[in-house]
Amino acid sequence: MCARVYNFSAGPAVLPVRVLEQAQAAVMELPGAGASILEISHRSKPFAAVHEEAKALLRELLEIPSGYSILFLQGGSSLQFTMLPMNLLGEKQTADYILTGTWGKKAFDEAQRLGSAHVAWNGKSDNYSHLPAAQDLDHSSNAAYLHYTDNETIQGVEFQSVPEAGSIPLVCDTSSNFLSRPINVGRYGIVYACAQKNAGIAGVTAVIIRDDLLERVPKNLPPMLDYKLQAENDSLYNTPPVFGIYVLMLICKWLKNEVGGLDAMARLNQEKARLLYDVLDAHSDFYRGHARKDSRSMMNVTWRMPSEELEAEFLTAAKDRNLIDLKGHRSVGGIRASIYNAMPQAGVEALRELMLEFHKQHAK
Ligand SMILES: Cc1ncc(COP(=O)(O)O)c(C=O)c1O
Repeated sequence: MCARVYNFSAGPAVLPVRVLEQAQAAVMELPGAGASILEISHRSKPFAAVHEEAKALLRELLEIPSGYSILFLQGGSSLQFTMLPMNLLGEKQTADYILTGTWGKKAFDEAQRLGSAHVAWNGKSDNYSHLPAAQDLDHSSNAAYLHYTDNETIQGVEFQSVPEAGSIPLVCDTSSNFLSRPINVGRYGIVYACAQKNAGIAGVTAVIIRDDLLERVPKNLPPMLDYKLQAENDSLYNTPPVFGIYVLMLICKWLKNEVGGLDAMARLNQEKARLLYDVLDAHSDFYRGHARKDSRSMMNVTWRMPSEELEAEFLTAAKDRNLIDLKGHRSVGGIRASIYNAMPQAGVEALRELMLEFHKQHAK
């Protein structure tokens, strides 16, 4: 294996070496197929087995109750911003959105373009640095659903509990913390996540949808954008993202067999995040965390430093130690360490070490 850097990219992001090795082998030959995973029909037996296994492993890891379908769609999570209102927002209804960051706002903008959308809470005035309290949510009376972003990848704020939606279907964009910890799927109408952070590679988006919602889908939607049609065809209305589904299956296997499931994964993730947040807390005059303490993300740790020059110097020092892609998104600035499932603890420890040394050298 080549010398690998510690890759803190927000996505596409680091993958487990074991999964990369298996994917590499399957590019030559999918075990038992006598051909590459890239060469076989999506309607062949070997691919059907991969597809079934991916769904079964997701069901097992997330303890998905009966009455939910799993779809593997294309177009990324961004297409879900469009499909959701197209499929579920009726003419006399309003769609409620909690805006805790850039992605929630994008999802809202898309709903507003397609129908009536309402902001249930907006964190923009505080630069999306924290979450709403339960009593702060402003629900509309005729809501078709309530949408929120479980983890805002750019700002680094993550819900610590599930927002209350009453009898309204709750829809969760869990793109950047999918499979990082257990979730109670039974509380949701729809959970969706693009794969390229915690669940594999770009090109496939997992959509877990409660079956009764499929009955709300209006007739005559473009077929590719129709949840009901996609469910009826088991995501095989057209050629699905075959390789993406394969890698997602490998990730699930890795989570189950090598990590020990989502509780174990959550414990590892908590420890990794603690290593960095402890430095932020110990040197809060130098490392200024973007997220309020009660809203901190376990996946994307974001902070500013006393000057942009110091931030640039820090990024250079990080690169010298093979710690890459730590630059914060331009809307927040500073540093962002994305520490998804596959980031080894040793990578986080190396970053922590640098932070402590850099502070010693530069703090006044
Ligand atoms: C929380 C969240 N939602 C949605 C998206 C958009 O995903 P895609 O690029 O797959 O459309 C991203 C991508 O970074 C994200 O982090």
